[in-house]
Amino acid sequence: MSKLINGKAIAQNILDEVHHQIIQRGQNGLRPPGLAVILVGDDPASQVYVNNKKKACEQTGIVSFSHTLPGNTTEQELLALIDRLNQDARVDGILVQLPLPAHIDATAIIERIHPDKDVDGFHPYNLGRLASRMPTLRPCTPFGVMKLLESTGEDIRGKHAVVVGASNHVGRPMGLELLMAGCTVTTCHRFTRDLPAHVGRGDILVVGVGKPELVEGTWIKPGAMVIDIGINRLSSGRLAGDVEFEPAAERAGWITPVPGGVGPMTVAMLMTNTLLAAQNHTPTS
Ligand code: GUN
Repeated sequence: MSKLINGKAIAQNILDEVHHQIIQRGQNGLRPPGLAVILVGDDPASQVYVNNKKKACEQTGIVSFSHTLPGNTTEQELLALIDRLNQDARVDGILVQLPLPAHIDATAIIERIHPDKDVDGFHPYNLGRLASRMPTLRPCTPFGVMKLLESTGEDIRGKHAVVVGASNHVGRPMGLELLMAGCTVTTCHRFTRDLPAHVGRGDILVVGVGKPELVEGTWIKPGAMVIDIGINRLSSGRLAGDVEFEPAAERAGWITPVPGGVGPMTVAMLMTNTLLAAQNHTPTS
């Protein structure tokens, strides 16, 4: 039976540290970091995620500027808001909750955010920095996964890491993080042949595809570190990850639960990035 990686507790420690550093900034006469949170439309899951982010701002002392826009907002209107926030000295970070309504080109929106305020780490500049081993603002979920792996105390250098999912915001930067940490990385995607064989070779397995229980427990290499990024709401109302939890937990050395694994870490790393952006923006003298 595997050991559980308690993402909720690890995320709370990170939030406490961010809070502590913001108090210290205050004692040094520096303003708190500011995060603009933009939600377009009324997708219920996005509303939950955005509320979690605002709550984390309250907990850490980050000032949140909330922009809730109707679903028929035009791309030009959203670009104009981003231009204003790019210029706003109180705002260190800009977060546009995804997915956006279909009539808005998410790529154009992400590219319009100034890279220094791109606390999601999604701008091609920030992804390029990660690819060239000079990370600044790193995509929150993969960054959080690295913290979870670190929390186990295991040396991951030289391990074979298998990432399932190759999205721009999760799978690809995840592979780059693991490569930077000295892993040998395999990335699996929709065209991968014989997924179980690849999964079975992973000393580290990270799955982020959004398909409930896609990865069967019996595929997993005994003793592997298993990180499940998926959060899927089943028709029964139950939340399930992308990995079949019970049988996977029988074989894995370490495993993250869903919920309470990666999810809270994404929020904690967003707060970390916002503090980092503020440190980079605020003159110290
Ligand atoms: N939608 C789901 N996850 C994320 C995230 O990490 N950032 C943003 N901006 N939108 C998301």
